[in-house]
Amino acid sequence: MTTELIRIRGLMENAEDFVRAGKLLKNGSVVAIPTETVYGLAANAYDPEAVSKIFEAKGRPQDNPLIVHISDFSDISNLTTEFPDVAATLAEKFWPGPLTMILKKSDKVPFEVTAGLSTVAVRFPSHKVALAVIDAAGVPLAAPSANLSGKPSPTSAQHVMRDLSGRIPMILDGGKCEVGLESTVIDLTKDVPTLLRPGGITLSELRDAIGNVNVDPKILEEVSDNEPVASPGMKYKHYAPASPVVIVDGSAEAFCNFVVSECADKKVAVLCFEEELELFRDTDIKAVPYGRLSHPDELAAELFSALRELDDIAPDIIYAREPDCKDGMELAVVNRLSRAAGFSKISV
Ligand code: TXA
Ligand code: MG
Repeated sequence: MTTELIRIRGLMENAEDFVRAGKLLKNGSVVAIPTETVYGLAANAYDPEAVSKIFEAKGRPQDNPLIVHISDFSDISNLTTEFPDVAATLAEKFWPGPLTMILKKSDKVPFEVTAGLSTVAVRFPSHKVALAVIDAAGVPLAAPSANLSGKPSPTSAQHVMRDLSGRIPMILDGGKCEVGLESTVIDLTKDVPTLLRPGGITLSELRDAIGNVNVDPKILEEVSDNEPVASPGMKYKHYAPASPVVIVDGSAEAFCNFVVSECADKKVAVLCFEEELELFRDTDIKAVPYGRLSHPDELAAELFSALRELDDIAPDIIYAREPDCKDGMELAVVNRLSRAAGFSKISV
């Protein structure tokens, strides 16, 4: 299969391309689309056969459920049997945007989408291209991140091309994703709303909006084999370059000295903060910055593309720096980086 890459210049300029993307989706095919978080690989959420093509193209484990994307609030009643008050408050405040709510699923949602669960993940994205494609398809779209399973999520159409070229018919290129990390996932089917994945909407924003929010401890812990989890995505090693990643805690100077000493017998690369870059200037260590420590939104926006850049260098090992874990965007950055590192962390 050849993969067509279409650069989107505007809703009017590309009107015909949206019609074609909509037709592909109506006919049971998959299309990769930009969202404000990461690129998604979309299919008609009501068509089990179309949905199975997502799993096939990504090499995704069958037990990992998908998020259903809507472009019109009224679709909620087709997808769910219950929309509690907290959900209404969150929708009012954060939709359209990078928030996914877990709700009780209706019979219309096939179990292929929810991996057999009686709940469904729903998101109303804000990206204009995503909304135009959902409208063109005329149905809600199931869409996971458009990467090969296990790889960092794609934040540009080129990332999608690298992973899925030849495996899907069409990629819509809407430029770089603004948030750069996947949406926040909150489970609203529990007595107390529970954060399952930190993301573009922060824990403190959620608590400001609805009060008490529990945090699933597995957000920052390794999950052992066969352990039950609230969100199947927690089980898998994720977001990882091919080279091993180790998180290094300690002062900037101690970090630099450690990395220099490690260089003697292996090819080392570094994922660091912008502020630390100059420490490596007079060394031949390849250091990739992912934003300023003082600006966690930058770290979130650049993390995945920095991990992909490091992947291309193919070092023996990647030493990475992480921000302190607070309840802002840092939590999402630490969650993704910990998983990329398989929870491997040292102090220097
Ligand atoms: O920002 C995003 O959310 C992106 C864009 C494309 O919208 N999508 C995305 O999808 O990140 P994916 O499949 O990579 O991640 C979905 C996460 C997984 O961890 C999955 O286990 C969880 O949501 N999930 C989906 N349905 C669930 C459910 N019913 N209960 C618990 N967790 C669920
Ligand atoms: Mg994913």
